[in-house]
Amino acid sequence: MKVLVIGSGGREHALAWSLAQSSEVSEVFVAPGNPGTAREPKVRNVALSVSDHDAIEKAVQTHSIDLTVVGPEQPIVAGLKDFLDSNGHKCLAPSMFAAQLEGSKSFAKEFMKRHQIPTANSFVTHDIDEACARIRRSEFPIVIKADGLAAGKGVVVAHSLNQALNAARNMLSGRAFGDAASTIVIEEFLAGEEASFIVLTDGENVLPFATSQDHKPAFDGDKGPNTGGMGAYSPAPVIDDDVHKKIMDHIVNPTIQGMQEENNPYHGFLYVGLMIQEQEPYVVEYNCRFGDPEAQPVLMRLQTDFATHCLAATEAGGLAGRQLKFKKNCTVAVVLTSPGYPGKYKTNLPISGLNSNVPGTKVFHAGTKEEQGRIVTSGGRVLTVVSSGPTVELAQRNAYARANKIQWSGVHMRTDIGHKAIARERKKTA
Ligand code: AMP
Ligand code: GLY
Repeated sequence: MKVLVIGSGGREHALAWSLAQSSEVSEVFVAPGNPGTAREPKVRNVALSVSDHDAIEKAVQTHSIDLTVVGPEQPIVAGLKDFLDSNGHKCLAPSMFAAQLEGSKSFAKEFMKRHQIPTANSFVTHDIDEACARIRRSEFPIVIKADGLAAGKGVVVAHSLNQALNAARNMLSGRAFGDAASTIVIEEFLAGEEASFIVLTDGENVLPFATSQDHKPAFDGDKGPNTGGMGAYSPAPVIDDDVHKKIMDHIVNPTIQGMQEENNPYHGFLYVGLMIQEQEPYVVEYNCRFGDPEAQPVLMRLQTDFATHCLAATEAGGLAGRQLKFKKNCTVAVVLTSPGYPGKYKTNLPISGLNSNVPGTKVFHAGTKEEQGRIVTSGGRVLTVVSSGPTVELAQRNAYARANKIQWSGVHMRTDIGHKAIARERKKTA
């Protein structure tokens, strides 16, 4: 089987690497990929833009691709799956309509309300006076969200009346996110611990991946501005067996069944961002794709053949009787970023130490490019270093041993990825 992965980040490097492990797979193409994917055995990059659907279809034909797996949300929300399907090609991703679970927060909130899926109470509006009146009657903190895609930046947790009013005004005026914020969601603040729950579904059957936890703030101790993700680990102990069952029974299964009942079956990866509040899970957001950086530590633990399950998920009912199995070990992923990220940052900084090794670790590329035979930085999140170990603490130690061998001018990483799980591990053994 030949597989095409759409995207160029750390998640896509992990997807391509994991798909290439399959004995059923002869070749993996990544469009456009990065220098890390270019160096993987059985993997080859194809230069094209993820928003150019015609070029993607041409690549599918030229390389006789059997399955396309889409990494990022933008091409999914723009209807890439529908386009490839209509041309007779297999594509693992939800349809444009189903992808509204991520592409429109108001769609997601109304869907959850219809299906009694636990989530924060919310109010949807496109009118500034109505928004301000509602905010004035609220308690703080309160959460203001742009309805559409805003590259993970369209959420403000406002701690005061002024901050909330400013956020709503900035969004609804179009200043902050253009059309993506012509509607906003005003949402009750949920306290608790966040976790990521990702599943593979054929529209009927649901196979959960191992649980994970992301670290969005830029600095240690969960301080500083929110980023696309500074690191992740798997499994997330906040999801014990009891919480896992509640997530499947009250959230994931009702979501997949609800989409099916409404004649919009959901295929592909579904990422549910959760807040766990005293053993009760609530949906913070849906994403219509795998997580980044969650894919890196989660796929490192996968034992089951990934490619055959991805292919099976493109057929309604194709996952019946199947299961995803994971290694018992823990994995910790540390993201190395450019100086200044998530604000303005420098690029073209030469990277050293990529050839160093520490057993049990792997480096996934994201914001890198090759220039005159050298690998240099080209984005905010540059690399993800993943390590496995018998505990989160040991996996973390190993991940930093490898990460600290990699250098560029102003390289930044958090030094505490996995801290919540490590605190739990220590409490258990104390
Ligand atoms: P989202 O893009 O919806 O995932 O929101 C980004 C981040 O904002 C989440 O990872 C949470 O940390 C925070 N957040 C969003 N909604 C809420 C909420 N209702 N209560 C508390 N925190 C939230
Ligand atoms: N790690 C957060 C995300 O993929 O949206």
